[in-house]
Amino acid sequence: MTSVFLRCFDEKCGARYPVTEVRPECACGNLLEACYEWPNFDPAVAKRTWSARKTSRDPRDLSGVWRFREMIPFLPSDAPVITMREGNTPLIEAARAAEYAGLEALAFKHQGFNPTGSFKDNGMTTGASQAAALGKHVVACVSTGNTSASLAAYAAYGGLRAVIFIPAGQIASGKLAQALEYGALTIQVQANFDVTWKIVFHLVEQAGIYLLNSVNPFRVEGQKTIVVEMMEQLGWEVPDWIVLPGGNLGNSSAFGKGLREMKQLGLIARLPRMAVIQAEGSAPLYQLIRRAAAEGRPPWEIGLQPVESPQTLATAIRIGSPASWKKALREIEATRGVCEAVSEQEIADAKAVIGLSGIGCEPASAATLAGIRKLVSRNVIGKSDRVVAVLTGNLLKDPGYTLAYHEGTLSLPQEGKAMPIEPGFPNRPISVPPDAAQIQRLLESRTR
Ligand code: F0G
Repeated sequence: MTSVFLRCFDEKCGARYPVTEVRPECACGNLLEACYEWPNFDPAVAKRTWSARKTSRDPRDLSGVWRFREMIPFLPSDAPVITMREGNTPLIEAARAAEYAGLEALAFKHQGFNPTGSFKDNGMTTGASQAAALGKHVVACVSTGNTSASLAAYAAYGGLRAVIFIPAGQIASGKLAQALEYGALTIQVQANFDVTWKIVFHLVEQAGIYLLNSVNPFRVEGQKTIVVEMMEQLGWEVPDWIVLPGGNLGNSSAFGKGLREMKQLGLIARLPRMAVIQAEGSAPLYQLIRRAAAEGRPPWEIGLQPVESPQTLATAIRIGSPASWKKALREIEATRGVCEAVSEQEIADAKAVIGLSGIGCEPASAATLAGIRKLVSRNVIGKSDRVVAVLTGNLLKDPGYTLAYHEGTLSLPQEGKAMPIEPGFPNRPISVPPDAAQIQRLLESRTR
């Protein structure tokens, strides 16, 4: 029997709670995490079991999250799960993107292949299943878009009521459209994500509504299976680097936890290094780590200074006061990782290069390639290092951004003026009259 409990993330506190306890944080104010004691875990048996499940038709085995359920054993084994075959996302080699970054090879793990088009589904299946197991009927989140789309879908599918809080006018159209279509009570707050979060966090709890943001430890459990599936796809050969975008920093926390646990259980021989990439205008963790290095002090001693008015066109990661910064910092330290920041121009062009590789992603995801390029140019990542970048969301989430980039009208509003983005890889549509000769000339000039 595996024993399961919730524990305060802060080792100095270390308070424990039963896994059925409903509380958004520890009594001391730090976040909680799910902990297990795995007395008889055999890594070779686990790998064989997970592999054999690929031919099973059990809904849990068809899920790329629950297939690895020995890694996330927080539910009783007979508890139903709310699953839509999430996970199962491909690892795709991208030669063109590798060349752009200055690497010999680069693989993308594309979480945009999930049911609602983002990595949030990996954590929502576990979070929503725990909500149902606890007898909760109403679930809520504050979101920059993807969490709300995912929550809306999983709640609808599982027969729960979803309430979503989003910063008005600051989420991509594809994500808002999803939430509306899946029937979530959609509340647009006229403020940014951080302000909305501060207002809603305790209010939701007091209303008896179950909060499914990534501060929820069961969301983290599902998201950590992204790296488990990745290692399986790599034949359990650990890459040198895993690179991902950072916003509220739940995913960085989840990846680090998953990697440490896989090492502890003997599934992998060593830890890869983790590189978390933030957008320059919304980069509080990057700024903290840089300041700590400059002052020769531990970042813990300084503490995170929130970015008051975070800016970036990668709206998914427009967050100035990330809830999981302490967890993410611990994981960066545990993996000897780094945190980098990239500009709007760098994100936009990296996104276009991912598109030209035939892969495509939403803006926040492209921060990975922009960050890798920067880290390679600084010799932090070696050109023959083995690197996996996680594309967190689908290209179709934010069509407005992509169209504006290719049309040359993309710009970041800044203190009254607009900061234009010059597309390095534009692909403007060409308008023609219904004239065969003209179309023929066009084809001759453009397809040679
Ligand atoms: N990429 C995408 C596409 C996202 O939607 C998010 C976060 C991130 C990266 C960053 O992940 O927050 O775990 O560091 N989106 C959240 C949301 C905040 O509400 O959908 P993180």
